[in-house]
Amino acid sequence: MEGEDELQTPNGAVSAQLDRDLEDDDPLVLSSQALAALQEFLADQNKTDTITPPPSTVDGGDKVELVTEDWRLSQFWYEPETAETVAEEVVTLSSRFSNCRVACIACPTLYVYLKKKDPSLHVQLLEYDMRFERYGSEFTFYDYNEPEELPLELKHCFHIIVADPPYLSKECLERVTQTVSFLASPVDSLLLLLTGDVQRDRAAEMLGVRPCVFKPHHSSKLGNEFRLFVSYDPGTRLGGLEEADI
Ligand SMILES: C[S@@+](CC[C@H](N)C(=O)[O-])C[C@H]1O[C@@H](n2cnc3c(N)ncnc32)[C@H](O)[C@@H]1O
Repeated sequence: MEGEDELQTPNGAVSAQLDRDLEDDDPLVLSSQALAALQEFLADQNKTDTITPPPSTVDGGDKVELVTEDWRLSQFWYEPETAETVAEEVVTLSSRFSNCRVACIACPTLYVYLKKKDPSLHVQLLEYDMRFERYGSEFTFYDYNEPEELPLELKHCFHIIVADPPYLSKECLERVTQTVSFLASPVDSLLLLLTGDVQRDRAAEMLGVRPCVFKPHHSSKLGNEFRLFVSYDPGTRLGGLEEADI
């Protein structure tokens, strides 16, 4: 993973850098910036994040429990409003399909919000972090480095696929594209891709997706600008498609 591919917090700390610093055999000497980021990270390890979505948008205003972000895995959770908006879009789209099946590739927060919104929706979470094994048969271990190392029963059976690749590299997007092809129903499927704006041209080329006006945001403010790309025309939902791309 190269520097420009990494997700960045505004103070410049990057997940992979923390990893490298921690694994180095040399005496550990951290810059004051890296030290501050590390202290913040370690403090976070000792608590469970609890995100409270707006009461008007989630049943009964119940809290949505999320595990703590692990920056070493490039984990940056959506702000509640972002998770809520994307979940609402997926639930709206799901009414187009009978017995709709949804795949969430590396977006565990969305999985949680979707199940909260519609517990009967068939959602499969593909994730690298084994902490999400807690979701039982709806969890599938997924490593983008092995994009098609997946159970055969998942092949070509999803109507809606939402992907949020861990890195902003061409290679990562190529591999996730392979996974999307593996999962997508050959008859009809819709794709939502959440990733950095820097992936715009590659995403259009590899996956045929276009950016919406709506912009995703994260609870830990990131330095990279994020976008939601879709493979269909959302009409006026999600602020519509960006004018320049219509
Ligand atoms: C940028 S985050 C997306 C999370 C999303 N914003 C959310 O709130 O659900 C990337 C996700 O990729 C996962 N990930 C990390 N390494 C991975 C790997 N090798 N293969 C697949 N997923 C990986 C992380 O656990 C994380 O959930």
